[in-house]
Amino acid sequence: MKNVSSEIGTIYGIGLGPGSVDLMSVRADRLIKSCSFIAFFRKAGRPGHARQIVSEILPENVKEYAMEYPTTTEIPLTDPRYKKVMTSFYDECCWHLKSVIESGEDVCVLCEGDPFFYGSFMHIYERLRLEVPIEVVPAITGMSAAWTATRVPITWGDNILTILTGTLSEKKLFDKISTTDAAVIMKVGQNLGKIRNAITLAEREGDAFIVEFAAMSNQFVCRLLDYTKEVAPYFSIIILHGKAK
Ligand SMILES: C[S@@+](CC[C@H](N)C(=O)[O-])C[C@H]1O[C@@H](n2cnc3c(N)ncnc32)[C@H](O)[C@@H]1O
Repeated sequence: MKNVSSEIGTIYGIGLGPGSVDLMSVRADRLIKSCSFIAFFRKAGRPGHARQIVSEILPENVKEYAMEYPTTTEIPLTDPRYKKVMTSFYDECCWHLKSVIESGEDVCVLCEGDPFFYGSFMHIYERLRLEVPIEVVPAITGMSAAWTATRVPITWGDNILTILTGTLSEKKLFDKISTTDAAVIMKVGQNLGKIRNAITLAEREGDAFIVEFAAMSNQFVCRLLDYTKEVAPYFSIIILHGKAK
């Protein structure tokens, strides 16, 4: 990996996998251990989940750029202010990352799971991909770790797997859940009640599992029927397994 020189550097969007450093790819490991500049997203006041995954393998004296979200749940996704605030945030992140690589240094942008799967890095990638060298390292997704944590296979034969987010309407969730064999529901958090209703209406409540913090030290798995919380943690996924036919 290049360090500082007169040439333009490269932005690497590095997938780190679902949360355990030993679930990272060899390529991600190599790039991170040899990097001099990292960038990562985080909620203001938090260490940053992606940063924490690799904290024990970061080189000494690595330079860091924390990209702090200006809002997470404070402004609803449907509020036009959300788009405006987030657009200028990503523009600013791009401006900063570009200025680093223009000085000749490479930057590793740390991404939880896979960068191209509902990842914030995609906003950087789409803005800069035609302008600067940018490489992406794929990774194990959170959902892979989640269905593995249930110790039940997710899809058999010609099963259809549908990936949904809890931000969809209850009706859309119901429609999709009632017409698929297997489902993964991401972004559970405060959407838990709505997801639960949709699963119950689709008569799949007996099949569903919820996984908190898959592949992390505080991983927790249980049947949705036995889950008593009203709001799930941010790192939660609901799994409906397909069945062998
Ligand atoms: C913005 S998406 C990022 C997905 C990530 N890029 C991936 O490849 O899994 C965040 C959502 O992914 C899910 N998620 C990601 N990793 C997880 C994990 N290790 N355990 C549980 N949920 C996870 C949660 O539903 C969370 O709300």
